[in-house]
Amino acid sequence: MNSSTVNSSASKITIAIDGFSSCGKSTFAREIAARLGYIFVDTGAMYRAVTLFGLRQGAITTQIDTPKLIALLPKVQLTFRFNPARGASDLYLNDENVESQIRSLEVSDWVSRVSQIGAVRTYLVHLQQEMGRHKGIVMDGRDIGTVVFPDAELKIFMTADPQVRAQRRYRELQAKGDPTSLEEVARNLRERDEADQHREISPLRQAQDAVVLDNSHMTVEQQMEWVMQRVAVWM
Ligand code: C5P
Repeated sequence: MNSSTVNSSASKITIAIDGFSSCGKSTFAREIAARLGYIFVDTGAMYRAVTLFGLRQGAITTQIDTPKLIALLPKVQLTFRFNPARGASDLYLNDENVESQIRSLEVSDWVSRVSQIGAVRTYLVHLQQEMGRHKGIVMDGRDIGTVVFPDAELKIFMTADPQVRAQRRYRELQAKGDPTSLEEVARNLRERDEADQHREISPLRQAQDAVVLDNSHMTVEQQMEWVMQRVAVWM
């Protein structure tokens, strides 16, 4: 812990962050965790890793073979390991670093359908609840404040202008040399938002006790000021 760390173990809380695709949830959550000395978990990465595994094992081809994908779940071992070069944790699928593969457009195109499968959600929600058992965690996703940690002390629902979101995601992919066009990125975001909001199990919705953060025109530093004021209440 350094001098900017503001929590003590006695006052550790759970921070749940939900919202639309590409709102900057993970960047925001990671920065909060770093400042508080908390664990950060990107649950979208976990759904993406199951999708990648399904594609590799032939359970997802032109459609999803749901029984086959469910049967594969016990073979999915997920761990987050800190990568000092990135200053962030990478996701390992069965001991392989898949951080870059899980961000491909192919995975993005399938993940919202994979995340509709009840058994997949049950499997991952259980892992997520285990990770947060001792509090001191910032978790981002779609159902964190509603399903994974309904008792979280601080719940944030993030949103931003769809065009701003598409531009942000496009720039991120471009920086990695990914040739996906802005139109394709915007289409994928629209489709995922639609699927995530309207699925039967654990749809994306704002928890009643969540505070809304629209970061369309906010810098990361402004977002940090906003959240630290709310966190201070618990410290
Ligand atoms: O956060 P990210 O955009 O990487 O998530 C990818 C997809 O995983 C989402 O579009 C959603 O379908 C699914 N997801 C979910 N529940 C979560 C996190 C992600 O259904 N808690």
